[in-house]
Amino acid sequence: MAKIIGVVQVKGGVGRSTLATNLAAALSLEGATTLIDGDVPQGTSASWGALRREAGRLGNLTVTTAQDHVELVHKARQLVGSQDYIVIDGPPRIAEITKVMLIMSRLCLLPLGASAAEVWATGDLVQTVEAARRRRPEIDVRIVWNRFREHTRSARELSEAVHAQLGLEEMQARLGYRVAYGEALGRGLSVSEWTDRLARDEFGGLVAEVKAALA
Ligand SMILES: Nc1ncnc2c1ncn2[C@@H]1O[C@H](COP(=O)(O)OP(=O)(O)OP(=O)(O)O)[C@@H](O)[C@H]1O
Ligand SMILES: [Mg+2]
Repeated sequence: MAKIIGVVQVKGGVGRSTLATNLAAALSLEGATTLIDGDVPQGTSASWGALRREAGRLGNLTVTTAQDHVELVHKARQLVGSQDYIVIDGPPRIAEITKVMLIMSRLCLLPLGASAAEVWATGDLVQTVEAARRRRPEIDVRIVWNRFREHTRSARELSEAVHAQLGLEEMQARLGYRVAYGEALGRGLSVSEWTDRLARDEFGGLVAEVKAALA
C-alpha cells in the first residue's frame, strides 16, 4: 500500500512544487514513487519530471498529472497497490482536489513562508482542514517553513503565532532561502543532486522527518 503525501497550500508561489519534486526524488531512492501534479495546466512538477525523463534520471520515479479530483482519485486507486509512495503537488486554491488530498493523504505538508501575511493567508485552508477532520479526524497536516530567514522574525515567535492562529503542527526541519532550490528545479534535479551542501543537508533532515512521520 502506497503512503500518500499531499503538498497543500492556498497561496501561490510558496514552494509546493519545490517540496513535492524534492520529496518525490528523495523517496524514489527508497521505493517505487509516483509524483502526481495536481496543479495543471501550470504543471511545474510535470515539467520537472519531463526534464528528468529526457535526462534518463527517472529511476524509480513516475511523474503524471491529474486534471481534477476525479482523475486524482482514479489514478491514486490505480497506483496504490504498486507504489511505495505517492506524492501529490496541489493547486494554489481550495479546489475539490485540495479537499480530496486532505482526505486521502497519510501526511499533508503545508509550505509556509516566514511572514505574518502568509500565516494570515493560510487561515482559509485551516478551516478546510477542520471541515475535513470532521470526516477523517486523524488527518495529519504539518507546516514546513520555507524561505526561512532567521532575521525576519524569531523562530519561536513564528512558531507561537502558528499555534495560536492556525493550530497546526510543524516540521522541525526548515528550508532556508537558497538559490539552489530554483537552480535544481529548473534543471529537473533535486537539491540532493545539486551543489549546495546546506540545502542538501536541510532537505535531508526534512526527508528523515517525513519518513519518521509515515512509519
Ligand atoms: N527555499 C527557497 N529558496 C529560494 N527560492 C525558493 C525556495 N522555495 C521555492 N523557491 C522558488 O520560488 C518559486 C516558487 O516556488 P514553487 O514553484 O515551488 O512554489 P509553488 O507554491 O509550487 O508555486 P505555484 O503557485 O507557482 O505553483 C520558484 O522559482 C522556486 O524555485
Ligand atoms: Mg507549483
